[in-house]
Amino acid sequence: MASTPPPESKTDRRLRELFAAGHPLLYVLAPDEGRVDRLLARAAQRFLGAPVPFWTWSLTEGMRGGDGAPAVAGTQDPRAALDFIAGRGEPALFQLKDFHEPMHAAADVRRRLRDLHALAATRGQFVVITSPVRAIPDELARDILYHELSVPDAVELRAFLDEQAAAITAAGGWVDTREATLDMIVRALQGLSLDEAAFAIKRAVSGTRKLGRESLPVLYAEKRLRVNRSGTIEYVADGSELERVGGLEVMKKWLTERHALFQPKDAVGAELVPKGVLVMGVSGCGKSLSIKTIASLFELPLYRIDMAEIFSGRHGAPEWAFAQACHTMEEVAPAVVWFDEIEMGITSAEASGEQGRIFAFFLTWMQEKQRGLFVAATANRIDLLPAEMIRKGRFDEVFFVDLPHDSERREIFEIHLARRGEDPATLDIGRLVPITKGWTGAEVEQCVVSAITKARLEDRPLKFEDLFRTAARIVPLSKTMKEQVDHIRSWARDRAAPASLAE
Ligand SMILES: Nc1ncnc2c1ncn2[C@@H]1O[C@H](COP(=O)(O)OP(=O)(O)OP(=O)(O)O)[C@@H](O)[C@H]1O
Ligand SMILES: [Mg+2]
Repeated sequence: MASTPPPESKTDRRLRELFAAGHPLLYVLAPDEGRVDRLLARAAQRFLGAPVPFWTWSLTEGMRGGDGAPAVAGTQDPRAALDFIAGRGEPALFQLKDFHEPMHAAADVRRRLRDLHALAATRGQFVVITSPVRAIPDELARDILYHELSVPDAVELRAFLDEQAAAITAAGGWVDTREATLDMIVRALQGLSLDEAAFAIKRAVSGTRKLGRESLPVLYAEKRLRVNRSGTIEYVADGSELERVGGLEVMKKWLTERHALFQPKDAVGAELVPKGVLVMGVSGCGKSLSIKTIASLFELPLYRIDMAEIFSGRHGAPEWAFAQACHTMEEVAPAVVWFDEIEMGITSAEASGEQGRIFAFFLTWMQEKQRGLFVAATANRIDLLPAEMIRKGRFDEVFFVDLPHDSERREIFEIHLARRGEDPATLDIGRLVPITKGWTGAEVEQCVVSAITKARLEDRPLKFEDLFRTAARIVPLSKTMKEQVDHIRSWARDRAAPASLAE
């Protein structure tokens, strides 16, 4: 039986394509030097037809062959290094570390590079400049192909994890090598560079000298730091269970079913993997709460994109900051990404300037983004959302969360009482149902909290009368802002699927 070849990482594939295209001068931006050294050494073995010699140059060491041989005498000077390359006739891969400096400093170095561009192409030679910064002199911009390494994907991380695991075991530590555990660790590391991943693993292993499921919180903590650095994305820690949401049965059932399809490892067709959900509706009826439960249900981390930060200008032009945030999310996938009050940033397709551009970007991104990223968007002012946003195909489903009906309010009362240590069975909740018509879930919660507070202040157990009297005093949003709430409801009813069962 023929064995299937090991899967190729995204970065390897990209590098293979770059070399196959035959471009002799490459500039690879790679903050993570150990990683790029290894990738190129492997590329020399595998991506250039037959294996070719791999040479590495640095200002301190000069030019070295790949086999640990001493550096070639007299090649420390940048110009001499290029002359060395020009003097060799056979196919080879040359890595020039941090060559941006000499390239900018000397005209003859730039000239020599342009000579090499012509020469190397005919000989099957490749010269790769690696650097942590992008700095290409203008006159070389046409000759040098620029490439930015993306963060390592699951395949690359898995290979790296295997190496780290071997090192931990060799040093007398213990690693849980069950496939399922290794998969979980890889998921937790996704979005980190190899340097960051190495650091995270080191922190997880320090002390216990064990790497297993118990290490996951430490690994996720490391990832949180990485994401928080962006300033526009927030890791949401307070996950919530489905049981904490009252009512909304249709949406809950839909989400539970999607969970089965949302296993990035499964062999289901890409078109079956859920893209995301848009939840709109009356303020305080559980939109945000539901999104938090999705992440727990899918067993994925939840990240919130902060539209206010994006538009603050603190992170560059809004459209740039938005695109950047979306790409960062793709890097940390699998995950649930939450766009709260999406109508704040994305109003109308005709909107001029940055809002229009953000909207256009978002729509394309929704279609093309990586599998494994579930987008959960919430909106209040749904009438502001453009029709294209709501059309089927962008999101897998668009739900409308309405004011909870009788049995839902009852359930919400019970949930909030039970969460605060009260036994709902001892209180006559049924009598609260008719007097709380038109209330939101948030108002039900507020009623419970006020009543319990009152009882506690008077140092006695909660009585039904506390709830009843508090309820009588609350004026619900659906009354004070009747027109707006009615407008949202009638607008959404025709355009979205109800999240609740019919009463
Ligand atoms: N269906 C519900 N079940 C249980 N609790 C609920 C429900 N709806 C609302 N609540 C309570 O009200 C609080 C506020 O709800 P949530 O933040 O989810 O509303 P929202 O729809 O996101 O409102 P907004 O549009 O103002 O952001 C929740 O934290 C929860 O405690
Ligand atoms: Mg909300």
